[in-house]
Amino acid sequence: LGNLYDKLVKYAQSDFYPYHMPGHKRQPLEGFSEHLTELDITEIEDFDNLHHAEGIILQAQQTVAEAYGVEESFFLVNGSTSGILSAVSAAVPFGGHLLISRNCHKSVFHAAYLRHLQLSYVYPKINQEFDICEAVTPDQVEEMLQCNTDIQAVLIVSPTYEGRIADVSGIAEVVHRRGIPLIVDEAHGAHLGFSEGFAKNSGRLGADLVINSVHKTLPAMTQTALLHCNGNLVSRDKLKRFLNIYQSSSPSYILMASIEQAVQTAAERGEMFQNFREEWMRMLQQLKKLQCIKIPAEATGGNAQDVGKLVISTKGTDMSGKQLADMLRNRYHLEMEMACETYVLAMFTIGDSREGFTRLTEALEEIDRDLCRKNKVGTGAFTETVEMMSYIDVTPDIPFFQAWDREKEFVNLYSSKGRLAGEFIHLYPPGTPIVVPGECITEEVINRINSCLKAGLEVQGVYKREGRTEPAVRCIIQAEICNDI
Ligand SMILES: Cc1ncc(COP(=O)(O)O)c(C=O)c1O
Repeated sequence: LGNLYDKLVKYAQSDFYPYHMPGHKRQPLEGFSEHLTELDITEIEDFDNLHHAEGIILQAQQTVAEAYGVEESFFLVNGSTSGILSAVSAAVPFGGHLLISRNCHKSVFHAAYLRHLQLSYVYPKINQEFDICEAVTPDQVEEMLQCNTDIQAVLIVSPTYEGRIADVSGIAEVVHRRGIPLIVDEAHGAHLGFSEGFAKNSGRLGADLVINSVHKTLPAMTQTALLHCNGNLVSRDKLKRFLNIYQSSSPSYILMASIEQAVQTAAERGEMFQNFREEWMRMLQQLKKLQCIKIPAEATGGNAQDVGKLVISTKGTDMSGKQLADMLRNRYHLEMEMACETYVLAMFTIGDSREGFTRLTEALEEIDRDLCRKNKVGTGAFTETVEMMSYIDVTPDIPFFQAWDREKEFVNLYSSKGRLAGEFIHLYPPGTPIVVPGECITEEVINRINSCLKAGLEVQGVYKREGRTEPAVRCIIQAEICNDI
């Protein structure tokens, strides 16, 4: 026992640099005591109660709402996950119908499971050059709403994990024409709307409910998040009820104070955003010169791509994203946010130092030189055979909340074509499903999973069984085979 703490302390003393969450980048929190236990209290006199805020917590939430330009904000101490569960539960009646972008975080699916919702999907376009999902568009949402007139709310993710930003005001207009609410999972956008050169936040662009993970992109402790509300399409009473259900009854005052401090920093320290943007642009100027490793041209920011999310593509080279992330970790002591078959994702925030920008730039320049030299004689074998799967528009035979509860059996992955998935299969991070329970396992799905496994990635929902060499997935029992493949 005691190993976790010791390991954390040892890691804190090392020279590893974090290109991942939390947004404070393991630096001291501005204006925060070093002795955290001094601040760690429970609901004592004069300190209000998150679940019935009418004093100091209410005031802090009101200040935060002003900073984001929304009507009302709620502190979340159980991450955006608790905000998403509450938002979906309050916006759609039990057994109702929700339209979501297919690349949503698993918490959206979990909300639908708990509330027995019928899900319809907007399928984001796949950017084939970089193998990432684009943001969904107003036209795509409009088309789905025209075909499904009983949809009761829409949920999109913006920015996406890779930083793609949707036309939120356009989508809000389309959604509001039907008189239904728009929920934006803006977990990756707590830093938006505070400074020039960064996109506006969705609360100012007409969304009814917006969820931010403060810990992801601002200097705040892990698990800190916000739920913002506008308008009256979603009952605030219901929202409060669900926040009460899904959040701890002992909310941490340290986490709540950390939200307040981080938002204050964002609202008052515009120079931090400007420094951040300047460092970012300087880094991109250098990275644009790389010959074999590629970064998306849109990374320079603007309305469609967030500043701070760096997609580093190895597509077309002999190196997988996972191999690049391993090399950055082992050789340079740089830890990435995420790695998949053909790219690595590095995250930057206002918490980054110049050292962070420089160390990654120099490491990538060196790796790029080696890669180009080798690639002249290389096969390019890795990326030629791997293509990101485009989502197949399938309507499952059984609603997914029922499918997830059905009896399941292990099936060899390579013999599972045509079977109905009994579980989610996804890479974590980012936690967006390759397959949802009840969906058909197609050849394309098997190939995608296989390529992830070949690239050494951990795929949740795929099992190694004792004594067997081939991977297995869990499928719904009894000869349910889908015909439409
Ligand atoms: C798009 C998206 N939404 C929601 C979440 C959940 O956020 P949290 O970890 O704050 O609960 C994540 C987490 O990675 C995410 O990527």
